[in-house]
Amino acid sequence: MDERVPALAAVMDVTARRADARAGSIPAPVLAVRDLRISFPAMSRGARDLEVLDGLDLEMGDGEFVAVLGPSGCGKSTLLRALGGLMDPRARVSGEIVVPRDGAGRRATAWMPQRDGLLPWRRALPNAMVGAIAAGIPGERALPRARRLFDEFGLGGFERAWPHELSGGMRQRLALLRTCLAERPVLLLDEPFGGLDPVTRRRMNAWLASVRLTERAADATTRDSTSLAAAPGSGVVLVTHDIDEAMMLADRILVLSDRPGRVVHEERVQAGTHERYDRAALLDALDC
Ligand SMILES: Nc1ncnc2c1ncn2[C@@H]1O[C@H](COP(=O)(O)OP(=O)(O)OP(=O)(O)O)[C@@H](O)[C@H]1O
Ligand SMILES: [Mg+2]
Repeated sequence: MDERVPALAAVMDVTARRADARAGSIPAPVLAVRDLRISFPAMSRGARDLEVLDGLDLEMGDGEFVAVLGPSGCGKSTLLRALGGLMDPRARVSGEIVVPRDGAGRRATAWMPQRDGLLPWRRALPNAMVGAIAAGIPGERALPRARRLFDEFGLGGFERAWPHELSGGMRQRLALLRTCLAERPVLLLDEPFGGLDPVTRRRMNAWLASVRLTERAADATTRDSTSLAAAPGSGVVLVTHDIDEAMMLADRILVLSDRPGRVVHEERVQAGTHERYDRAALLDALDC
């Protein structure tokens, strides 16, 4: 069956409109990290503790798509776990993390792990429902929404497929759909298209740019006055190794140094210009 990935031209139009909407206005942060330091205890006697993040600062404005680039092992996944409240309890964490919370005080974040984490013994639809179940969303609300999102994510007709019957790109989209079903307005995506070949990855990026993920994640939540006192703000933090992916999708890009990671470069979209980012500057920052 056709995977229904939209044409790149249409996608570029969407991203250009998003850049225009941002022109001249930097939204107030809804998520912020200040001077975040994380280390793990030494793995053997006599060894030093492993410093992973070293005074990291990050801000995400309401509705922003923030990409975090950095070399392997610099602490990107650790950062996402810290934002999602999923830190290994042995970690030493200092600094300030401000994330939006819902009316019940729960973090308004949903995390997509670096590996798709699909359960091989569950068909596609029940796999997706795991996100809703874990978030305590009633099945009668989540199921019709899941069916609708299967169509929107280009997975319609594959609800009863086993994970091994899906292509790599379809599995990644299913994992993303599962994350959206948690109905949290802030998405923390850890290399959602890692491991795909470059052509499929570009197609997936084009598709991702065309779907308004945080609205998909939050639409049911913000309409439900019992679960939210007020809409807590929305956005996406995307971790990636891929500079083109970051440039295509993000409103703001942060580059981290080698471990211990700290921000060595930050750029926002240059609204109104053809080249949205200074690619050379990003490459330089990644190289240092
Ligand atoms: N629970 C843990 N206990 C001990 N060390 C950890 C733990 N989690 C991560 N680390 C260490 O922290 C460092 C950063 O890991 P992390 O997974 O955040 O890197 P990353 O930037 O996401 O890398 P990659 O791009 O390869 O995914 C690594 O050296 C890793 O071994
Ligand atoms: Mg990682």
